[in-house]
Amino acid sequence: MNTVKKSGVGQAIDRVEGHLKVTGKAKYASEFPVENKVYAQGINSTIAKGEIVSIDTSEAEKQDGVLKVITYKNAEKLKTFDKEMTAIGTDSIAPVLQSNKVNYYGEYVGLVVAETFEQAQYAARLVKFEYKKDPSAVIKFEESRSKAYNPDNGSNYSRGDMQKGLSEADVVVEQTYNTPIEHHHPMELHAIIASWDNGKVMAYASQQMVDDATIAISATFQIPKKDVRIVSAFVGGGFGSKLNLERHAIMAVMAAKMVGRPVQVTVTRTQMFTNTGMRQQNEQKMRIGAKNDGTLTALSHETLSHTSTNMEYQEPCGMVSKMLYNVPNNEVTYKLIPMNIQTPFAMRAPGEATGSFALESAMDEMAWKLKMDPIDFRIKNDTQTDLHENRPFSSRLLVECLRIGADKFGWKDRKMEPGTNKNGNWLIGYGVSAASRNSPYQKTYSKVILDLEDDGKVHATIQMDATDIGTGSYTIIAQTASEYLNIPVEQVSVELGDSNFPVTPGSGGSWGAASYCNGARAACENAVKGLKDNRNIPQDEDVALAELLKRNQIKTFEAEGMAEPSKEFEEYSVFSFGANFCEVWVDKDTGMYRIKRMVNVGSAGKILNPKTAYGQIIGGLTMGAGMVIAEKTQVEPNFGNFITRSFADYHVPVNLDLANIDVVFLPEEDKIANKMGIKGIGELGITSVAASIANAIFNATGKRMRDLPITPEKLIEAGVEEGVSLS
Ligand code: MOS
Repeated sequence: MNTVKKSGVGQAIDRVEGHLKVTGKAKYASEFPVENKVYAQGINSTIAKGEIVSIDTSEAEKQDGVLKVITYKNAEKLKTFDKEMTAIGTDSIAPVLQSNKVNYYGEYVGLVVAETFEQAQYAARLVKFEYKKDPSAVIKFEESRSKAYNPDNGSNYSRGDMQKGLSEADVVVEQTYNTPIEHHHPMELHAIIASWDNGKVMAYASQQMVDDATIAISATFQIPKKDVRIVSAFVGGGFGSKLNLERHAIMAVMAAKMVGRPVQVTVTRTQMFTNTGMRQQNEQKMRIGAKNDGTLTALSHETLSHTSTNMEYQEPCGMVSKMLYNVPNNEVTYKLIPMNIQTPFAMRAPGEATGSFALESAMDEMAWKLKMDPIDFRIKNDTQTDLHENRPFSSRLLVECLRIGADKFGWKDRKMEPGTNKNGNWLIGYGVSAASRNSPYQKTYSKVILDLEDDGKVHATIQMDATDIGTGSYTIIAQTASEYLNIPVEQVSVELGDSNFPVTPGSGGSWGAASYCNGARAACENAVKGLKDNRNIPQDEDVALAELLKRNQIKTFEAEGMAEPSKEFEEYSVFSFGANFCEVWVDKDTGMYRIKRMVNVGSAGKILNPKTAYGQIIGGLTMGAGMVIAEKTQVEPNFGNFITRSFADYHVPVNLDLANIDVVFLPEEDKIANKMGIKGIGELGITSVAASIANAIFNATGKRMRDLPITPEKLIEAGVEEGVSLS
C-alpha cells in the first residue's frame, strides 16, 4: 500500500493559489504587462432611444496622446444580428458601433484610444454627440405591461389542470411578488488587453467561459476560431456578468486592429451598471391551492419581466415551481416587455434566486393560512420524482435538510403567532425556506503532464481552459489530481484559463466543479492506465507513480482525458437541495431590522473542499440577504438612466449585516450525477435566502413583505396581514 499524505478530495485544505493572490502575483486581465499597450475609454449614450445626428471629434483628437476616436462612422463592419430580436447566449456575437441608432441610455457610442489611461478618459469627455431623441422610449416597467409578449422559446409549461386544481382546494393563496433590477458587482472590473498579430487575436480578458469568448470574437470579426486566443487566468468574481463577451471587449479588439497596438479597456464601475448585464425586474404572480390537510392541489407561477428592444433574455423564474413540490396541477408562464434598457442577463442562480423568493414566500403564506408549521407543510408535499421532467431525482435530501436544519437552528422555539416573541422593543421572528438548483455537468477535456524530478518525486501539471472566478477551481482540481495520482497536493500544479488548453464548459451555472474535476480525474486515470498498459502491469496492481515512470524508463509522460454525462445522468433529474433558516429582530417603532443569525443546510453531493464550499455558501447567503436588505438599481423614469451607479448608492451587505452564519453540508456522494459524486453549489447558496428572511419578518411582525428590497420605511408603513392579531 502507498501511504501518501495526498490531500485529496474532501479535505479542507487552504487555497493552492491563495499565496499568489495575497502577494499580488495572481494576474487579473488588466495587470498583464503587455508591451507597447495603449488605453481606450468607451463613451456612453445619453439618451434612451433615438439617433446620433452629429459627432464632433475634433477637440478630442487634438489632445496629447490621443491616437484614435472610433464611432459608428469609422468603425469596422462587424457581424450583426440577422433577426430583430435575438436570444442572448454565452457565445453570442457582440456587434458595437455599427449604426447611429441608440437603444438604451449608456449604450456605447464611441471609443477613444490614447497613450495613457488618463488621456483616454479625458479625451472621451470631449467628443460631442448630438442626438435626435425618440419620445417612444419604453422606460417605465409598471406602465408598459400592455407591450409584453410571450417569448417564443418554449418556456411556458403546464401539467394537469390548473382550474380543476384550484377548485379542489380548500385554501387558495394568490399574491404578487416584486423584485427590482439588481447588478452583479464583482470586485474585478471587466477588462481586456487585446492585440493582433498576423491576422490573429490575442486577448487577456476577464471571462468566465474562455471557449465561448473565443467563439464570440471569431464570429463577430468573422475570423477562424483557431485564430483567437484568450487568457483568463484569474477572474476576480463574475456572478454571471462575465459569462458572455461584452461589447467593451469587441471595441478593444477593433481598436487594436485600427491602431496596430495592444489596446486595454477596463470598464468603469459606473459602466458595470450599463454595459455588463444585470438581473431584470420581475413581477411574479403566484397562485397556490391546498387542501385543509396541507396537500397541494394547484400551483401557478406567472412571471412578467423585461428585455431590451433587440435582444431577448428570459430569467427562468418559474423553474422552481415546476419541480420542487408534489403538485399535480401546475402552470408556469413568462412575459417580457421590450424596454429601452440594456439587455438583462444571468446573475447568480438566474431563475432560482428570484423565483424561489416568490414560491417560498407563497408557501409560507399558505402554511400560515392552513395553521400548519411551514416545515411540516413542505415535507408533506415532498416528492422524489421531478414531475416536470417526469423522472426521478438522482438524489434528493430536502426533507433531511429541513429536519437537520430545524434541529440545529432551534426551530422548536418558534412561535406560530406573529408578534408573540419579543425582547424589549424588538419583535423576533423565525423563517424557513427550501432551496433547489439543478446541477448540470458538461463535456470537459483535460491534460496532465507528469515529470519525474531529480529528487525522485513526480510533479503533475493539469491543464484545461477552466476558469477560477474566485470559487476555488485551482484548489479542487489540484485535490482531484492528488487523489487520482496518489501524490501530495504540493506536487501538483494547475494551469487554467487559456484557450490553448483543453476545452471545458467554463465557470457558470454551478457546473464548474463537477465538470472540471471529472475532466481532471479522467486525464489522471488515463495517465496511470497508460503507464501500466505500456509495461503490462495489471491495472489493479498498486504501484506508486514515480515507480511507474521508472519502470517505463521515462521522465515525462502526458495524458489527456475527457468526462461527460453518462446515459444514466440523462435519465434522472440532478439537483442540489438545501434549507435556509433565519432569525430576524425588528424594531417595532422604526422598522429597522437585523438578521441575527442564519443556518443553511445543503445537500450538494460530494463536498470537494469544505473550506471553499463554505466560502461559496456564505457568499450566496450574503447576496441573498443583499436582495432583501438593500439591493435595487433605480431607473430614472424620464431619461432611462440608472441613478444608482456606484457603491455609494447601490448598497450591498457588509460583515456587520451578517455576523452569525452556520453552514452544514450533508455527507453525500451522488454517483448518478457523475463518477466523483459531485453536484453544484455556487448558486444553491443564494437560492430562497430572500424568502427565509421575509418569512422571518412576517413571523416577527405579522407583515407580508412582497416587494424587495424590504426597507425600514416599507416595513413600518405596511399593514398587518389579515388574520393576524397582534397582542
Ligand atoms: Mo452564473 S449566473 O451561470 O455565473
